[in-house]
Amino acid sequence: MILLSGEVGNYIYSNGRKYSYFAGNNYLGLAAHPQVKEAVIRAVEKYGVNFAASRHTTGTSDLHLELEGALASFKGEEDAVVFASGYQGNSILLEILKGSYSTIFIDQSAHASIISAIPADVVKMMYYDHCDAVHLDYLLEYNRGSKPLVITDGIFALTGEIAPLNQIYDIVRKHNALLVVDDAHATGVLGASGRGTPEHFNLPDDTNIYQTETMSKALGGYGGFISGSRALTEMIREGSPTYQASTALPPPIAAAGIASLAILRANPGLRTELIERAWQIREAVTEMDYQTTHFRTPVIPIILDSSEKAAGLSLFLEENGVIAPYMKYPARKAMHQIRIAVSVTHTDDQVSQLLELLKKWKDKNESNQDQKGSH
Ligand SMILES: Cc1ncc(COP(=O)(O)O)c(C=O)c1O
Repeated sequence: MILLSGEVGNYIYSNGRKYSYFAGNNYLGLAAHPQVKEAVIRAVEKYGVNFAASRHTTGTSDLHLELEGALASFKGEEDAVVFASGYQGNSILLEILKGSYSTIFIDQSAHASIISAIPADVVKMMYYDHCDAVHLDYLLEYNRGSKPLVITDGIFALTGEIAPLNQIYDIVRKHNALLVVDDAHATGVLGASGRGTPEHFNLPDDTNIYQTETMSKALGGYGGFISGSRALTEMIREGSPTYQASTALPPPIAAAGIASLAILRANPGLRTELIERAWQIREAVTEMDYQTTHFRTPVIPIILDSSEKAAGLSLFLEENGVIAPYMKYPARKAMHQIRIAVSVTHTDDQVSQLLELLKKWKDKNESNQDQKGSH
C-alpha cells in the first residue's frame, strides 16, 4: 500500500521516497494549491474543524451559503446544494425523485455509488450494455408504460470513457425518461466552462437532466453537490433523509471549495492544457500498442490480459519511482488494468519518464513472451 506522508501533487512522498504521481483524481492540481490551503487555514481558525451537526439542524454557516452561490453561478443554475460527499449525491437525487420514476436503467459499468443509491423498494432496475444507446433504446421500448429513469457516469472512473450522452439524450427524450449523469470526474474537466458532460455535448437546458457532482476530484477539495432550479434544491433540503441526517460538509472544506472554484473559473486554460497533456500520453500509449481507450479525458487505462500482468506493470513503475496503480476497485465487470491519472501539473520530464518506463516494460514483456513461444 502507498502510505502518503505529505501532500498530493505531481509528486508524492511515501516510505521516505519521492514518487512521480499518476494516480488519484487531482486533475487540476488544486488539492494542495497555496490559495486553497490558505483559505482552509483561515476557516479552521474562525470556525474550527467541524460543526458536528447536520445542515438541516445547526450545521449551516455563511461559508456553506457562499459555496452554494458560487457553485450555482459556475453551473449557470438558480441554486446548488452541497453535502458531505459525491457518493451521497446519487442517493440524495434518487430519494427526492421517487414517485417520478418506476424503472431504473443503469449502464452496466456504472460506479458503485450509483448501484448503492438504488432505493430498496424500487420496482424494477435493468442494466443496459456499457455505453450502448441502442441497447438502452431496446430496453426502454420493451418496458413501455413504466416511468423510466436512466442513470450513467459522465466520465467512467476507471477507463476515462465518456458516456455517449448525445445519443442517450435522444433516446431519453424519445421515451420521455429522466436522465441522471454522475459527473464526478467531468466537473471542472469537460465542457466549454467545465460544467461537465452535458455541456461537453452541448445538450440543451432540460429540466429532465440531472447531474450529481463532486468537489473531491478536479476541484481538489471534498464534498458533493447538485445544482438546478430552486424547486429542486428545496426538494433536497426538505425531502432527502440522506441530506438531512448526515453531518454538514466541514466549514474549512467549504472554504476550500470556494477557493478552488475561483481558481478554476479564473483559469479556463487549465482544462485545455490538461486535456492536451492527457491526449499526448494516450497517443503515445496507443502507439506502443497497449490496449487503452480513446477519449479526451485525464484518465488513461492500460488494459492487460491478466491481473498478474497489470499488478506486474504497476510494481515495475513503482520500483522505478512512478505511481500508476493496478486498480482493484468495486466494479461489476472486473478488468485487469492500471490507471494513469493525468494532472495539469505534470511536467514534460515526468511524462517522458512514464512513457520510457512503459516502453521498457512492454519490450521486456514481449521478449519474454517470444522466448516462451520459441520453447
Ligand atoms: C463516478 C463516481 N461517482 C461518485 C464518486 C464518489 O465521489 P466522492 O469521492 O466525492 O464521494 C466517485 C469517486 O470515486 C466516482 O468515481
